[in-house]
Parts: sequence; C-alpha cells; structure tokens
Amino acid sequence: MLKTILICGASRGIGKSLVSVLAKNNNLRLWILTRNTTSLKQEYRNHDRVTVIPFDLEHNAKAQLQPFLPDIGPIHALINNSGHLEKGPFKALSMAEYRRCMQVNFFGPVELIQTLYAHLLEGKAHVVNISTMGAYQGSVKFPELTAYAASKAALTNFTEVFAEEQKDCGIRMNCLCLGAVNTEMLRAAFPGYEAATSAEEMAEFIADFTLKSGRIYNGKILPVSSSTP
Ligand SMILES: NC(=O)c1ccc[n+]([C@@H]2O[C@H](COP(=O)([O-])OP(=O)(O)OC[C@H]3O[C@@H](n4cnc5c(N)ncnc54)[C@H](OP(=O)(O)O)[C@@H]3O)[C@@H](O)[C@H]2O)c1
Repeated sequence: MLKTILICGASRGIGKSLVSVLAKNNNLRLWILTRNTTSLKQEYRNHDRVTVIPFDLEHNAKAQLQPFLPDIGPIHALINNSGHLEKGPFKALSMAEYRRCMQVNFFGPVELIQTLYAHLLEGKAHVVNISTMGAYQGSVKFPELTAYAASKAALTNFTEVFAEEQKDCGIRMNCLCLGAVNTEMLRAAFPGYEAATSAEEMAEFIADFTLKSGRIYNGKILPVSSSTP
C-alpha cells in the first residue's frame, strides 16, 4: 500500500528538493501544499503519485484544504517545511513583521495540524517540523533574527508538548533544527555567506528521517548542523 506524505512549502529551496527526493520513491503518494502551484504542477504533470494543492499559511487552512480532504485519506507523514524570515534590528522590526513570522512559522502550521488531525491519527503519522538552530536552546545566536528565531522556537516547543499529549494516540512529532543551508532564504538573510550544506543534501536527510525515524524518536528537538558545538 502507498504511504501518503504531505509537504508544506515546496516551490523552492529545501522543500523543492524534498519533493524531488520523495517523488522518486514508488511507495509514496505525495500531496504538495504550496502558494506557487504553476511551476510544480508543470514539473509533476506526468507524475500520478504527486498532487499539488494551492495553500498559503497566511490564510484559513480548513477552508483551503476542505475540498481535498476526502481524497487525502490517512496521512503517514507531514513535513512542515515552510518558513518565513524577517531580518532587522529589534527596534526596526514592526509588529506586522513579528506577526507574519508567527503566522507562517507557528500559527499556520498549528492550524494545518488541527485541520489534518483526523487524517494524521488514521495514518499514525510522523509529523516533522522544520525549525532552525537559532531556536535551539543554548545554540550560538545571530543578531537581527528575533522575530524569525522566536517564532520557530514556538514551533519547536509546541513539538515537545504535542508529542507528550498525543503519545498514546499514535501520532509522532519531532522537530529538526537546521543549521545553514544554501537556499534563497539564507542568501537573502546573509548575503555572500556560503553554507557547507546544499538544499539537496538537507532534503535527503529530512526525507530519510521522516520515513525511518518516527518509530524511534518522538517529541525530540534535534540539531541538524555540521557546525560546532
Ligand atoms: N536555509 C537555511 O539556512 C535554513 C536554516 C535553518 C532553518 N531553515 C528552515 O528550513 C525551511 C526551508 O527553508 P529554505 O531555506 O528552503 O527557505 P526558502 O527557500 O525561503 O523556502 C521557504 C519555503 O517556505 C514556504 N513559505 C513561505 N511563506 C509561506 C506561506 N505563507 N505559506 C506557505 N508556505 C510558505 C515557501 O513555500 P511555497 O512557495 O511553496 O508556498 C518556500 O518553499 C524553513 O522552515 C526555514 O526556516 C532554513
């Protein structure tokens, strides 16, 4: 039987590579949630195991997904890969920028999980939340990322509490705190900086972790970075 995986945020960067890695696996049925359906629909037009759904974490999740829920069925894994980064000195960041980070990085994924809850339960899903080393307790911090890092920290902490609360229901949830990866997000935030890890390498790791580690790990916050400490 095919396993059903949902990936939120896939038009570029790590998410785009994730779809490319997972689409090669003949045992998987993929549902791609993205704001930019055109290019992904074109790319996967001949792929009958990949469905692209228009979805924006800044809009109501239930209203957007309702038409597709009957066809989605049991979900075996959900990867919350989307992220929005606002960079600026604390005094310059507006409350609108803080709210946007909280919406895309925390409230949106929470609402998505609530909307899909029955399907996650049915599939005994492994939910993988993608966070950042900046939200990992005790890590080296970078200035001007208060809105981004704090909103990802909310998702990180949510993971631990959700996993504890739901541990007897069968849904597993873990959070990967990524170090720097060469993507548009990194280039925009840190111009000129070259990360040691490519989007493709990180996508391979996340795909493997999602498929294999849900039974071993639950409620874990895992740093995924080659930098020390
Ligand atoms: N690159 C790094 O160094 C790094 C480090 C630590 C953590 N991360 C995290 O890794 C994840 C992927 O990052 P990336 O580097 O690949 O970034 P990216 O190239 O900027 O891609 C960000 C993704 O977020 C999605 N997204 C943004 N706003 C959204 C919204 N309103 N609704 C739905 N999706 C939205 C986009 O999806 P669509 O366009 O498909 O809607 C896009 O695929 C993010 O969670 C990021 O915070 C990245």
